[in-house]
Amino acid sequence: MEPIEIVNLTPDRLEEALAVFKVSDWDEDSLFYVKAEMQAFLKGDINGYIRAHFIVAIVDKRIIGVAAWAPSMCSFWLYELSWATVLPEWRHRGINSLMLTERLRQIRAHHGSEVFSVMVCTWDNPMYTQNGFVPMEPQGRRSLDKKGKCLLLAQFGLATKTPPVHW
Ligand SMILES: CC(C)(COP(=O)(O)OP(=O)(O)OC[C@H]1O[C@@H](n2cnc3c(N)ncnc32)[C@H](O)[C@@H]1OP(=O)(O)O)[C@@H](O)C(=O)NCCC(=O)NCCS
Repeated sequence: MEPIEIVNLTPDRLEEALAVFKVSDWDEDSLFYVKAEMQAFLKGDINGYIRAHFIVAIVDKRIIGVAAWAPSMCSFWLYELSWATVLPEWRHRGINSLMLTERLRQIRAHHGSEVFSVMVCTWDNPMYTQNGFVPMEPQGRRSLDKKGKCLLLAQFGLATKTPPVHW
């Protein structure tokens, strides 16, 4: 497989990143929110404040996947994963797994060595299980309007060594 690079979204790639959501048929509401979040990430109006941090997967200079993480407003020890999308022709090849690893690395670098938790609302699957995520809603209580998705939560303990921060 071609080399895959996972990097932070940059302003020159905003439209290309949005196009990944459009070809993946995300609805109008989602497109509105993801564009606003990306613009806030790239040129937020409060100095030093960023809510959602976007990363992109690049192959041969082309974006094939996008994903984000954000500190939760509930608590500073809680983080959210969101907006994971991979171009249809690149799915099932581990791209989102790479983007999950990078997002967890960035959250640890941002948070420091203290304990933190990460939540995501999606389908329960081995990729998340292997990374310590457990479902917060029992199978029988997942409503149909969530399309089978549920809240997954993972807890990360004290880090013995904090990795260097690269921004
Ligand atoms: C979900 C999606 C991002 C997975 O990307 P991917 O690069 O194919 O995932 P990987 O190959 O790294 O994943 C390894 C496994 O974990 C599953 N997985 C990965 N990310 C997932 C996610 N966010 N939610 C549920 N399952 C996921 C995949 O189904 C895959 O299993 P499979 O190959 O047997 O299907 C991709 O299918 C996609 O863009 N779907 C449309 C958008 C979407 O539904 N996003 C999630 C919204 S919550």
